[in-house]
Amino acid sequence: MFDFFKVQKVAKEIEKVQIAKDYENIPDISKYIKEVTGIDFEDQAVVFKSKVTSFCRTHKIESFKSCLSTLDTLPELKQELINYLTTNESFFYREVHQINSLVKTIKETSKSVKVLCAPSAKGEEPYSITIALLEAGVSASRFQITGIDISSDAIATAQKAIYNEKAIRNLNDSIRQKYFSRDGNEYKLNQEIKNKVTFICVNIFDDDFKRLGKFDYIFSRNMLIYFDTPTRIKAQNIFKEQLVNSSTSIYYGHADLTHEYKV
Ligand SMILES: C[S@@+](CC[C@H](N)C(=O)[O-])C[C@H]1O[C@@H](n2cnc3c(N)ncnc32)[C@H](O)[C@@H]1O
Repeated sequence: MFDFFKVQKVAKEIEKVQIAKDYENIPDISKYIKEVTGIDFEDQAVVFKSKVTSFCRTHKIESFKSCLSTLDTLPELKQELINYLTTNESFFYREVHQINSLVKTIKETSKSVKVLCAPSAKGEEPYSITIALLEAGVSASRFQITGIDISSDAIATAQKAIYNEKAIRNLNDSIRQKYFSRDGNEYKLNQEIKNKVTFICVNIFDDDFKRLGKFDYIFSRNMLIYFDTPTRIKAQNIFKEQLVNSSTSIYYGHADLTHEYKV
């Protein structure tokens, strides 16, 4: 007699073997992502494989091999994979002592300054710097802030500037009321602050990044943690080149610099 359940079970087994066979050579994709973005997934091989497998299934790509060969010919797919693999976690007034130190330095000069946040993720950091400068009485005409990130999703969210409670948890009531309008669980940042920050989707390892020009201060927090040591050094050298004056500062996150290369 025709055993429907047995046939289904066999079909599932065949599918498993097929998937195992097709979704091979994950190291090639991880190498590609590292070469393009700097992000090193070596310590997260299982998570990386599961994410790329799910990405391939969603896009009906039948093997890692064809995924890899498609990435360079379909820039939108490559961008989508980068968006999917990057961690864009951030929040307002994160490591606020560094923001305060920047504000103090800027207050001590009368010059106009350009500040770069690379990476900016969803905008929390460049907007925090803007709010902190205004709160300290620095005129809006004295500073320009640029936020860049490799994730186009993060940049789109930054430009919308609508946040949840978690993202603004470090802000007191007075700052919330002054710079945000509340709509249910959402906090919309005022246009005045949004206008002060320019966002650009760019990879720090691309020539387009160098073409952004030079900055007086650079914030690069919580990105180098995803890179291996040689890539961290490469990124640090790129940032040094982007400074107007080598004596001004680059602010890294506390976990960004490997022990041997702390600056
Ligand atoms: C955890 S967020 C850090 C955001 C913010 N600076 C902070 O400290 O809260 C790390 C960001 O680095 C970005 N990123 C990773 N590699 C990049 C690259 N090669 N160029 C530009 N941005 C990159 C990711 O897209 C992600 O949004």
